[in-house]
Amino acid sequence: LKVGILGVPFDKGQAKKGVGHGPAAIRKAGLLERLSDIEQKLDIKDYGDVNYEVPQQLKDLDIPNIKSYADIASCNYQVSKKVQEIIESGRICVTLGGDHSLGLGTVDGHIKAKDENLCVLWIDAHPDLNTNKTSTSGNAHGMPSALLAKELSDYWPYLPGMDWQKPVISLRNIAYIGLRSVDSYERLIIDKLGINAFGMEDIEIHGINTIVELALNRIDPVGERSIHVSFDIDSLDSLEAPSTGTSVRGGMTLREGIHLMELIYRTGRLAALDLVEVNPNIGTEQDVNRTTDAAIHIIMAALGHSRRGIRPRNVNTL
Ligand code: ARG
Ligand code: MN
Ligand code: MN
Repeated sequence: LKVGILGVPFDKGQAKKGVGHGPAAIRKAGLLERLSDIEQKLDIKDYGDVNYEVPQQLKDLDIPNIKSYADIASCNYQVSKKVQEIIESGRICVTLGGDHSLGLGTVDGHIKAKDENLCVLWIDAHPDLNTNKTSTSGNAHGMPSALLAKELSDYWPYLPGMDWQKPVISLRNIAYIGLRSVDSYERLIIDKLGINAFGMEDIEIHGINTIVELALNRIDPVGERSIHVSFDIDSLDSLEAPSTGTSVRGGMTLREGIHLMELIYRTGRLAALDLVEVNPNIGTEQDVNRTTDAAIHIIMAALGHSRRGIRPRNVNTL
């Protein structure tokens, strides 16, 4: 497997400092070393971190109820270009966040690389389906899926500096797993449009294995699409991943997260994985270690790590 790692130290999609240090924290916890333990040797290229500048014409621009709009638009433009380049070079693009507003850029880059033949699994406590009219926070990390969705494009004002972005993905090709904090207008959109939204109670009733199968059947019935997993670490329970900005108790166990990613790996069609919202400024050192370790377990499972253990090479007898 060929893999590209991309850091996005971006924190302006929400108000808490520290989430911009997520990529450094995950790398420091040993991501690359631990990926080298996977049985099937990976060809990994680290693309470093994304840089961006806000162009002059966007500088003093304000869009109602989207905080730091110019930064959101400018950073995501660079993210999209990088992700597109990495996927086009035949690598699975693993993007380390940063807050979840970067999901706009990663999915957009994937769309461009694969001519729209993709589906998205959004693993999250939140659906991130607010527009600037429905959001009560003005935080862009609660808006990326609404910016990407074809069905919601009429609900946005004209967004200067976002002309590169096409809201072309149909919500029919997105499935949410792990929801347990859904705002009222998000609920309305999910119900009205019949969006594939699997909450914690669905996981309790059916189990994670069945839920992932159901989700994949809905968004990729023929099994030929390129898969994008946008994994918000707050999908995991607060005990599993305490160092994150909008933690919600009663979430997935790490076991469920690992199993989910193992199923995705086995499809052979994972093209992009976002691992977002790790904030090393939140909690104790132990909390941070637990959270980065969970993030690494999720990424390893996505790239083929097996919990069954590996036999010694070239040895067939005891
Ligand atoms: N729904 C809330 C909002 O719009 C919280 C969003 C949290 N998003 C996230 N990516 N953690 O602000
Ligand atoms: Mn979330
Ligand atoms: Mn999110």
